Amino acid sequence: MKRKLTINFDMDAALLKAADGYAEAAAGHYRTLVSESIPYTGWVSYVNRLKTADIAEINSVATEIRAKCSVFVVIGIGGSYLGAKAAIEYISASFGSYGSKGKIGTPQVLFAGFNLSGTYHNNLLNSIRDEDICICHISKSGGTTEPSIAFLTLRKLLIEKYGETEANARTYAVTDRDGGSLRSEAKEKGYRSLYIPGDIGGRYSVLTPVGLLPIAVAGIDIAEIVNGARAGTEPDTVAQSKRLACVRKSIQDIGKTVEVIGFFEPSAEAFIQWLLQLYGESEGKDGKGMLPVGAGLSRDLHSLGQFFQEGNQIFCETLLWVENPPADIILDEEGGFYAGRHMTEVNTAVKSGMIAAHRNVEIPITTLNIPDFSPFSFGLLVQFFELTCGITGLLMGVDPFTQPGVEAYKKEMKTYLSK
Ligand code: PA5
Repeated sequence: MKRKLTINFDMDAALLKAADGYAEAAAGHYRTLVSESIPYTGWVSYVNRLKTADIAEINSVATEIRAKCSVFVVIGIGGSYLGAKAAIEYISASFGSYGSKGKIGTPQVLFAGFNLSGTYHNNLLNSIRDEDICICHISKSGGTTEPSIAFLTLRKLLIEKYGETEANARTYAVTDRDGGSLRSEAKEKGYRSLYIPGDIGGRYSVLTPVGLLPIAVAGIDIAEIVNGARAGTEPDTVAQSKRLACVRKSIQDIGKTVEVIGFFEPSAEAFIQWLLQLYGESEGKDGKGMLPVGAGLSRDLHSLGQFFQEGNQIFCETLLWVENPPADIILDEEGGFYAGRHMTEVNTAVKSGMIAAHRNVEIPITTLNIPDFSPFSFGLLVQFFELTCGITGLLMGVDPFTQPGVEAYKKEMKTYLSK
């Protein structure tokens, strides 16, 4: 069976007609992306360039790490950690065992360096102190403040625990091939390292060693993720990306400024965080773009649901629906009205009810149906959304591969620190 995405558009015919008007431009932008003639578009064909030997190398580093630790700490921020976290949680499908066992051979995968909470990092250090630890600093630039600070504290722990030589053998790095302070340190201290291709930016890097190494350490089949991503480069899925990009552009044209991205599976929460970064950092510039907002369903129908139904209609909705969940529960006799029904049937009714109620107030709704929780589906989703995002950004007239705005807070922060 071929695993594919399907999309339903529940919105006014006029919006879909307006989207048709962008089809030619989207096709042109897709050709531009494939030609990789604009900077930082190496991700477009990266998965097709990736060789069996490249995947084997990542797996070999992961096997080495798995053999010597019960806890593996990934240190990174933004695109340098969100994709790996998204994959591990999504594929684990709630309470699954990837990256959660905490034993040598099947280490727990933890994340640090995406905040500057002293409490978070102090308590992290205390909770892992007696474990067998490996760490991996992931940073394209090699000098981002948050992960650099977390790395310092985790390195100190390793050195105290194992001494310098063994600490170095337990420290891994994923960074630029040649430049940056992390590359220099890796060379100097002999950390085993992998590299991020220079033509791929952080938020488009989950299918490179940035995401694939931690995912492999969690025990997930990364070759299947790559297979899924390759399916995302096939013409039928590319056509879906182009179509969704055109629809998103036509929704923005009618003045919608927020895109609510709803998910019905809790294990997709980190994936939504990854998608918020992808859309937000790629499209939100030059006063343009829709603010992406996540909504866990049906949870948030009991909070934000009021706003969705009767509040300021500034938003559209994009719903992610997993079609073949691997497990289900049948409600028994004591379930009254619900007796004999599968829980998924009730979840499906929530989705249908939500779509009907929200269409009554004319919210444009896109539903993306995802085959399952497999590594293949995860890879497919990532490639699909990256392409959709790239084409939407170009249709909007922004450069989806830069992030000049994120520098502003860093500058102000440094001013405070130097006072
Ligand atoms: O998408 C991006 O480029 C950013 O979100 C980066 O991933 C993030 O700022 C981390 O940067 P670095 O990997 O250089 O530490």
